[in-house]
Amino acid sequence: MKTFICEVCGYAYLGEEKPKNCPFCGARHAFIKEGNVANPVVNVKDVLSDVSKKNLEETLKLEMRANAIYTCMAGKALTYEINKMYKRLAKVELEHAIICTKLLNIELPEIGSELCSDQDVENFRKTIELEDHASSLYSEFAKTSEEKHVKIMFTALNQVELDHIILIKKYII
Ligand SMILES: [Fe+2]
Ligand SMILES: [Fe+2]
Repeated sequence: MKTFICEVCGYAYLGEEKPKNCPFCGARHAFIKEGNVANPVVNVKDVLSDVSKKNLEETLKLEMRANAIYTCMAGKALTYEINKMYKRLAKVELEHAIICTKLLNIELPEIGSELCSDQDVENFRKTIELEDHASSLYSEFAKTSEEKHVKIMFTALNQVELDHIILIKKYII
C-alpha cells in the first residue's frame, strides 16, 4: 500500500493505486498526489480577499443546505443503493463545507434540516437542479476568487458537482 493525499480536502487515502476520485471530497485524480509530493490547498492561513471570503461564505451555506437535503433524501430512498448513495453525497457536501470553514478559519455552523420528496424520481430531479446551480456558481467563483489556492479549490468543486450530475442522470434513464 501507499499513502496518497488529496490536495483539496487534505485527507490521506491508503491503497495500492491512486483512486480516480477522492473518497472524501470527490476531487478528481489530478488533485490526488503521492504523499511525498502533496501540497495542501486547505491549510493555507493567508488573509483572504473580500471577494474570496464572500465566495466561500456563499459556498458554505450552499453546501450545508445540500448536506441537509441529501440526508433527507437518503431517509426517503426506496432502495438500499439509493439510501447509501445519498448518505455519501451528503458527506461529500459536508466535506466541501468543512473545506470552506478551514479556508475561512471559522467553526462549522450547526447543521439544519431540510425537506425533500417521498419520491426518488423527484429527488433526482431536485439533485440535478442543485448540482447544476452549484457547479456554475463554482465555475464563476474560480474566476473571481483572487488567491491561487481558492481558485484551485473552486475548480475542483466545480468538477465534483458536475460528476454528481453524471451519477444522478444514470438513475433517471
Ligand atoms: Fe479530497
Ligand atoms: Fe459540494
